[in-house]
Amino acid sequence: MGVYPLPSPPSLAVVFISFVTLSVHPEPALAITRHYKFDVMLQDVTRLCKTRSTVTVNGKFPGPRIVAREGDRLLIEVVNHVQNNISIHWHGIRQLRSGWADGTAYITQCPIQTGQSYVYNYTIVGQRGTLWWHAHISWLRSTLYGSLIILPKLGTPYPFPKPHREVPIIFGEWFNADPEAIINQAMQTGGGPNVSDAYTINGFPGPLYNCSSKKNTFVLKVKAGETYLLRLINAVLNEELFFSIANHTLTVVEVDAVYVKPFDTETLLIAPGQTTNVLLKTKPRHPNAKFFMSARPYVTGQGTFDYSTVAGILEYEVARKTIQSSHSTKKLPIYKPNLPPINDTSFATNFTSKLRSLASAEFPANVPQKFDRQFFFTVSLGTIPCSKNHTCQGPNGTKFAASVNNVSFVMPTNKDLLEAHYFGQSTGVYTPDFPISPLIPFNYTGTPPNNTMVSNGTKLVVLPFNTSVELIMQDTSILGAESHPLHLHGFNFFVVGQGFGNFDPKKDPGNFNLVDPVERNTVGVPSGGWVAVRFLADNPGVWFMHCHVEVHMSWGLKVAWVVLDGKLSNQKLLPPPADLPEC
Ligand code: C2O
Repeated sequence: MGVYPLPSPPSLAVVFISFVTLSVHPEPALAITRHYKFDVMLQDVTRLCKTRSTVTVNGKFPGPRIVAREGDRLLIEVVNHVQNNISIHWHGIRQLRSGWADGTAYITQCPIQTGQSYVYNYTIVGQRGTLWWHAHISWLRSTLYGSLIILPKLGTPYPFPKPHREVPIIFGEWFNADPEAIINQAMQTGGGPNVSDAYTINGFPGPLYNCSSKKNTFVLKVKAGETYLLRLINAVLNEELFFSIANHTLTVVEVDAVYVKPFDTETLLIAPGQTTNVLLKTKPRHPNAKFFMSARPYVTGQGTFDYSTVAGILEYEVARKTIQSSHSTKKLPIYKPNLPPINDTSFATNFTSKLRSLASAEFPANVPQKFDRQFFFTVSLGTIPCSKNHTCQGPNGTKFAASVNNVSFVMPTNKDLLEAHYFGQSTGVYTPDFPISPLIPFNYTGTPPNNTMVSNGTKLVVLPFNTSVELIMQDTSILGAESHPLHLHGFNFFVVGQGFGNFDPKKDPGNFNLVDPVERNTVGVPSGGWVAVRFLADNPGVWFMHCHVEVHMSWGLKVAWVVLDGKLSNQKLLPPPADLPEC
């Protein structure tokens, strides 16, 4: 089955997993190979009294959960039974030397076409925690997503109290209309896409929406006096979310599959693409009440958004012996959490500044103390002209676009970038000349320039192996300042600094945290501000970086990095697998 020349451990046990729960069966301490099969198929799904034929994995919405341990190898066979082209991305998995399994359509592979299949083959190295998987083509991730849970190696405890139970909680978005039709129409007219009709928790909109019955509500049943590990994932397409559970405090212990210094909070912020593990300690006694666990968006942009609130219910189980009439759960009062105002940027700033790497002996923060190369990227909205004899619905009759350093990224159509790079066939596919800073500097967060037009191209940044990189990402006020969750494939980065206004190269670096900055794969560029990250380019391949707000990505807020092979044999990208799809 080995399509990669991966070194085999002395005895490679193989398990076949059809139905997976978080309870772990006795296993050998050695890393193993886990097999999954993803049949991409249509399935009728009903929410808000609306039934839609939905693209799913194995007929499930959200899709199946993947559970593995650090060090395991995953073989996931994806078979495409639908009319759409498909690719599946394993969000946050580092894919060391296995870029062919990153699952980004036209970046690391051609999509899997109707009737075809592809086996994603990768090993989880040095990571443990909550990640997730999702489709990485068009807007199909609206229904093609699920959790990817990496348990620590057998016998390795968590660096926090062992929870009684672990519960994945995935936030999603439900559209009554077909999301593919929504984005296709928006790209034609140049206007903003229609917004979703509900947010969901584990696929359920909950009781606050019209026509959303009780059985469409996520209920978390808990016992008094226990500790639960909630694995939160924001799989929403276009909005960051505030989340809170009424009358309960949450302890944040991990983000993006990296442990953090624990801290308590009533409310947290989670951007699309991000994951957050929290400990929930239940009340010592049955509280004779139920509690909403609610999420609603944090919005800084000027477009239209789904402003609704999703709720699930935290429900205490009654100990068998104490069942009394007073405990009839139906009559219990329900408490609702207070969520911050929709545009509460000071909450956002305060929350993100609490995130620090654990930086312990066992889990050190290997922050690059120096950098070889520095990049300054503006991230912004913009416009492109309307085509002749058309009317467009973007700003002043143009079409919306988005860019990095004013370059709106054009996806290749008949070859993926990784193959073009690997086979030395970049001519006509991409150019290695992405600007290291804006070609025309301006007052980024001041009065916006009159000209909002962007340029476009398939321009990449090329880095020698083991380059240590400092990257400043600067929001702009073009068409309104807005928070952008930027996601980098193939790496985690350290968030060494952030601030409002324009980044000041003289003053700001003096305040960088090079000791215990949070390490993650997706970071919010503050609305009207900047963020500085560092990473070591030790993973050869072609790596996408983009805003995880799906509409911004559709408009071109994306770029790719090429990391060249190193000299040693274990510093080179592996050859492509035989079943890599063709365009
Ligand atoms: Cu979660 Cu490029 O994506």
